[in-house]
Order: sequence, then structure tokens, then C-alpha cells
Amino acid sequence: MASKQRDISVSEFFAKNRHLLGFDNPSKALLTTIKEGVDNALDACEEAGIVPEVLVEIEQLEDTRFRVAIEDNGPGIVRGQVPKIFGRLLYGSKFHRLRQSRGQQGIGISAAGMYGLLTTGKPVRILTRTGKKKQAHRFELVIDTKKNEPKVRSDTTVDWKADHGTRVEIELEGAYRGGRHSVEAYVRQISLANPHATLRYRGPSAGRKANAEAGGDTPERELHVFERVTRELPAETTEIKPHPYGVELGVLMQMFRDTRARNVKTCLQGDFARVSSRVAGEICEGAGVAPTRRPSEITREEADKLHKKIQRTKLMNPPTDCIAPIGEDLLLRALKAEVEADFFATVTRRPAVYRGNPFLVEVGLAYGGAMTADDSISLYRYANRVPLQYQQGACAITRAVTQTDWKAYQLQHPRGALPVGPLLLLVHIASVWVPFTSESKEAIANYPEIIKEIRLGLQECGRQVATHVRKRRREADELKKRAYIEKYIPQVAIGLQEILGFDERERTKVVTRLSDVLERSRKM
Ligand SMILES: Nc1ncnc2c1ncn2[C@@H]1O[C@H](COP(=O)(O)OP(=O)(O)OP(=O)(O)O)[C@@H](O)[C@H]1O
Ligand SMILES: [Mg+2]
Repeated sequence: MASKQRDISVSEFFAKNRHLLGFDNPSKALLTTIKEGVDNALDACEEAGIVPEVLVEIEQLEDTRFRVAIEDNGPGIVRGQVPKIFGRLLYGSKFHRLRQSRGQQGIGISAAGMYGLLTTGKPVRILTRTGKKKQAHRFELVIDTKKNEPKVRSDTTVDWKADHGTRVEIELEGAYRGGRHSVEAYVRQISLANPHATLRYRGPSAGRKANAEAGGDTPERELHVFERVTRELPAETTEIKPHPYGVELGVLMQMFRDTRARNVKTCLQGDFARVSSRVAGEICEGAGVAPTRRPSEITREEADKLHKKIQRTKLMNPPTDCIAPIGEDLLLRALKAEVEADFFATVTRRPAVYRGNPFLVEVGLAYGGAMTADDSISLYRYANRVPLQYQQGACAITRAVTQTDWKAYQLQHPRGALPVGPLLLLVHIASVWVPFTSESKEAIANYPEIIKEIRLGLQECGRQVATHVRKRRREADELKKRAYIEKYIPQVAIGLQEILGFDERERTKVVTRLSDVLERSRKM
């Protein structure tokens, strides 16, 4: 046994368990690759204060082989960082901070590159430039899965038209699908939640391969442009320190080991949010730990006491200005630009807290209009402005929508299912740390605090749509009644003619008078 024990590198683990990262079938792999690239592109632009322009290109090379390119106008990547970013799993700038961004794990793009390598043997190609005065670099690199280390195949300087930005190209085994899970639908959903970004998308053209084989010209592939509706970037978010309520014992112990603070009291005060000097003193005293103790010498028992005391201490909620919502107005504008409907409502809730992490819920609703034709609900789920495409059934958002009583809002709602009707629901959760159910970041975990906030947002929109539906119904009822009365006015006149012996002229007069009365009642 002993001789068979050995280390497993993260990349070996995820190569075997690629489904955990969203690479479980060819069409999903294609979409996940694009998602990872676009997430990073938008994050990089926003962090650098650049209004994002992102280009997504898919080229079909063979039946099941594609080349995907994602290009941004972001800050670029310094040369020394490129190999690790793209050739090493669990390497990134976002994991160790509490700040709202699309990426958080440091796996995304290197996993996509690894999947490409495993399925096609081709390296990832990166073109990046950090400024006008700098040269652009072109890299070709692969991940050494055994060691979880990058291997650079080539590294050259090249000319590039862009002043700054990054272009990533990955070749992979994939499948191109239309419909709800298509790349185009995905890009459209990104643009809804990112009204400040312009996205361009060029998909593979259907006739292209056959045409090329026949020796013909390849047709120009169509470019879809999703224009931004504002040039204003989302409010810059700040990094926050962990809130003591959300810190588990093990993490607390690790923080004591890692801290630069000289004693426990200053550690509590400096490394956590919402702990003043007075409160830090109170915690130490309550736990029976001397405030002057060196954090690195705190024993497990002491840490346990401190942890317990923290839970019993009244603390202010974490600061919430670290979250940048889309906002009710922009969400409304984006919805109106994208969907044809009779009625729209949007709600941005105030920030709340789960496990010590601030989060915020936004809900958008569109009803009726062109959607009436297919009469089935669309539920768009988002986390930190990223559309979630899979695992709908496992997501807290779905649960909250199902649990809401839509009948009270004049909509059809089969028990235990989504409501039915010409309805589009959009739910966005923004947080410094989104609790996903797995590494592939497809569904949000069922925290009661989160479900509650989503339901409150849905209810607010529900009440607005109910008012609209009722008004519409009243209008329709009235129209029906009028049509009915209109139809019978001539009959009434004929009746009167027979009973009272009116002549033709008097009968016509009755019809005109009654029609007049009906007409006037409409104006009231
Ligand atoms: N287009 C880009 N421009 C600038 N920096 C980038 C770009 N793409 C990636 N990076 C940097 O590379 C790091 C690693 O990216 P990667 O997608 O692997 O992880 P992540 O975005 O941090 O987290 P996640 O796994 O949740 O996506 C990022 O944290 C970011 O600092
Ligand atoms: Mg990423």
C-alpha cells in the first residue's frame, strides 16, 4: 500500500473530473470556454477603468473541432504573469480578496486551456499588450498536468493594432448548438446584465466547411453586435475584510498564523471588518484570552473560545458599498432594448448579509407583448453579472421563483413549478463571494438569507405586474361588454318600434341616441 501512495496535482484531479469545471459535454465545453474568456475580459476592463469592448469569435475547423478567440481592450497582462495565468490551475488575483468580480477561483481560463490541450493537443495562444509604448507579446503554451506547471512553447514580440488588450485563442473538441444554450443567446444575456459593455460575436457559418471543401470562397461570417446602452462603468467596488460572523474556526486559526499584527487585539481590529478597538478588547476579555498574546501562539482552545465569543458579540453588519448593482434604471433600459413586451418592472434590493458576506439581489420582469406567442416563462439567472446557463433546477434562484405565490399576482402557477405565461424573469445576485454549488459556477447554493431576499424582490415586481394584468383584464372585459351592447342596440330599437309603433325615422333616432350614450360612457 505505502508504495502506491502519491501526490495528486490539482490539474490531474480536474483533468479527470472535468465535469466539475463545466466541461462535461462538447457543446457545454464550447460555451464554458467562451464564458471563462469573457468573464476575465470584463473583469480586467472594469478593474482598469476601461469601457469594455469584447470580441468573441468561433471558427469551425472540423466537424467537432473549433477554435475560440476572446479579445478584449483591457489593460493587458505583463509578460511574466502570462504562463502562470494560462498554464496553472488555481492561480489568479481574485481568490484571496473579498471583492465583487466575475472570477473568484483562479481556475477558469487555465482549465479551458487544459481542456483544449487534452482534446486537441494544441497549445493556448495568447496575444497581449499592456500599453502604447510596450510591444505586444505572443505566447503559445501548454499546462503540464502532472506538475500543474506551464510549459512555454513560444514567446515572441509581434505587432498588434491594439494599444492595449488581450486575445486568447483555444482550440477544442466541441459542438455548436442553437437555441436556449447557444453562444449567441449567451452573449445576448451577457449584454443584458452589462449595459456598459459592447460585445461583438462572430459565430461559425453553417455552409463554411462544405464550401471550403468544395474549393469555393468561404462566406463572410456574420458579425452580431450588442451595443452598450451606457458608457458609464459600474461603480468601482472596494475590497473588504472578512466579517467576523462569517469566519469559521479553522479559518480564524489560519488568520492568526498569517497575520502581521503583533497581538490578538490588533489582529481582530485590523484584519476584520466592523471590529473596533473597544469591541476587540471585549472579545478578548469575554474569551479569557489576554489581548497582548501573540496571534501565532494562540492555541486551538483559545481560538475556539474567541470564535464562540465572536458569535455572541453584537457587531455591525459588514459595509455594503463594496457591491455594485446594475441599478433599476439601467436594468430597465437594457431589458427594453432586448425584449419586446407590454410591461416592465425592475427592483434593486438593499444589500443584505449571508455568512458574513454582503450580497444584493436585483430582479427584472418583462410581461406580454411579443412574448405572448410562446407563452412560456424565461428565467435568466445571473451572479455578479454573469449569466448562469446550467443546473437551473439546483439553483437558489429557481427555488425562490418556485416558492413565490404567482397566483396572487394574477399569473398561472402550477404547484411546485415555475409560473406560466408570457413572462421573462431576470434575477441577479451580486456579492463579494458568490456561494456556488460547485467549481463550475453554475448554480447558487440555498442560503435562507439569499432565498428570502430574492423572494422579496420577486414580490415587489409581482405586485407591479399584477396591477398591470388587472388593468388589462378590466379593459378587455369592458371592450367585450361594449361589443355586446353595440350588437343589441338595433334589436332594442326594433323592439321599441313594434311596441310603441315608431316609424323608420324614430327607430333610427333611437339607434343613434343609444350609440351616443355608449360612446360617451367610454370617454368617462
Ligand atoms: N483578459 C485578461 N486580462 C487581464 N488579466 C487577466 C485576463 N484573463 C485573466 N487575467 C488574470 O488571470 C487571473 C486568472 O484567471 P482565471 O480565469 O484562471 O481565474 P479567475 O478569473 O481569478 O477566477 P475564476 O476561476 O473564478 O475564473 C485572473 O485573476 C486575472 O488576474
Ligand atoms: Mg476567470
